[in-house]
Amino acid sequence: MVERLWQEVDAYLAGALAPDDEVLRSALAASHQAQLPAIEVTALQGRFLQVLVLALGARRVLEIGTLGGYSAIWMGRALAPGGKLVTLEADPSHAQVARSNLARAGLADKVEVVVGPALGTLPKLAGRDGPGPFDLCFIDADKENNAAYFRWAVQLCRPGGVVVVDNVVRGGRVAEAGSTDPAVAGTRHLFEEMAGNGLVVATALQTVGAKGHDGFAIAVVAP
Ligand code: SAH
Ligand code: DHB
Ligand code: MG
Repeated sequence: MVERLWQEVDAYLAGALAPDDEVLRSALAASHQAQLPAIEVTALQGRFLQVLVLALGARRVLEIGTLGGYSAIWMGRALAPGGKLVTLEADPSHAQVARSNLARAGLADKVEVVVGPALGTLPKLAGRDGPGPFDLCFIDADKENNAAYFRWAVQLCRPGGVVVVDNVVRGGRVAEAGSTDPAVAGTRHLFEEMAGNGLVVATALQTVGAKGHDGFAIAVVAP
């Protein structure tokens, strides 16, 4: 019952503030057609990421976890002139769908999809010339490795850069100290890392909406 209310409010707010369009609709349709899991951010969450990209004037954005490129389209559209988004994806078939969706969005030149498990591709990113340091990192891949992704994100961000982590509440299960669910344990490990990392100031916000009860963590790297 209450979930239905969350969905109705989400639909109302999205209609007002995050209207979809042909590109976003076809990205979701193509992802569905290719049988990707329907776990992309909501339209309002995509808009939230856009607001952050715009607020930071971001020209360099890193995403960990591409799926079909839906969140990448939202962020890519808000990049400052000359801006680039690098998005890391382990599954080659997800990456292929994402590249096609991003091309249809006119973002092929701005968004680079890097294929491979992120713990393997992040060190290469650190070693190569450009595109970092990043203004914004969005962590949204396997939850087991969230603490390690967060350490990388802090290292790859500029001073004053922002790191956002998706799905940190998962219906409230994050509060279960003894959880044997690796996703929950991974997210609790993330919060220990955030709390102990002297370089960041961080908070977490619970959300309700079309995807139920979940939340974002958001951290700023010391300027
Ligand atoms: N950010 C996307 C949703 C990402 S879903 C959006 O909102 O549109 C999570 C993605 O992370 C999936 O595509 C999954 O294949 C990918 N993933 C899982 N483990 C990974 C890993 N170790 N390295 C990189 N990507 C991974
Ligand atoms: C899952 C992953 C996500 O990134 C998400 O936003 C929702 C669900 C999952 O693995 O179930
Ligand atoms: Mg997510």
